[in-house]
Amino acid sequence: MARGFFITFEGGEGAGKSTQIERLARKLRDKRYAVTVTREPGGSPGAEAIRHVILSGAAEPFGPTMEALLFAAARSDHIEQLIRPALRRGKIVLCDRFVDSWRVYQDNIDPALMAEMEHVSLNGVMPDLTLIFDLDPEEGLRRASARRGNGEVDRFERETLAIHRRRRQAFLDVALKEPRRCVVIDATPEADLVEEAVTQAVFAALPVRSHAEPKAVQET
Ligand code: TYD
Repeated sequence: MARGFFITFEGGEGAGKSTQIERLARKLRDKRYAVTVTREPGGSPGAEAIRHVILSGAAEPFGPTMEALLFAAARSDHIEQLIRPALRRGKIVLCDRFVDSWRVYQDNIDPALMAEMEHVSLNGVMPDLTLIFDLDPEEGLRRASARRGNGEVDRFERETLAIHRRRRQAFLDVALKEPRRCVVIDATPEADLVEEAVTQAVFAALPVRSHAEPKAVQET
């Protein structure tokens, strides 16, 4: 069975993940890799519907556990409908946020329940490589609001700076715990420099294409 390569992009608000995903996708396609770009919450029709419910704040009154369940349901649909089939076809999947966002953001829920929900929703699918974009949260929130241009903020951006600082540390802790899977990318410099760091990390981790199976992760 062909096996693709699964890369996730993680980090706080406004760290420039989407820009870097676009650039990496272009670079990989230029090299004739078959690439699928997606995001969480969302990425499949069912999960996009759930995304709207969560980010609008409509699920907030049901409490953090129910909100976490919605994220898990969205992830399960996304994996089964899109990620697993793409990996089976040998594609490189680039996903904007995944399970590490869940571990970092849904941090006030019974750990045993979290572990159970994580296990059920992932159903054996974990990233091969995770890039953790690290940025001072104050700068990140400034960039996120400048990007929107209308001062609008979503359910998570509304939270206090102290919470965003705690999350930054939590992402770094994930990287420390799983150094084989995670690479921390300094998201402070200009986009071209961040792109260099991303390219280096990705090409160091991508399996070398075998001559016997030259199309394993290429578009046919
Ligand atoms: P989005 O606008 O896609 O994030 P960004 O542009 O900052 O990457 O909003 C997704 C929000 O949902 C973000 O604040 C992180 C949060 N989130 C969770 O709380 N748990 C999760 O499992 C995921 C995937 C995201």
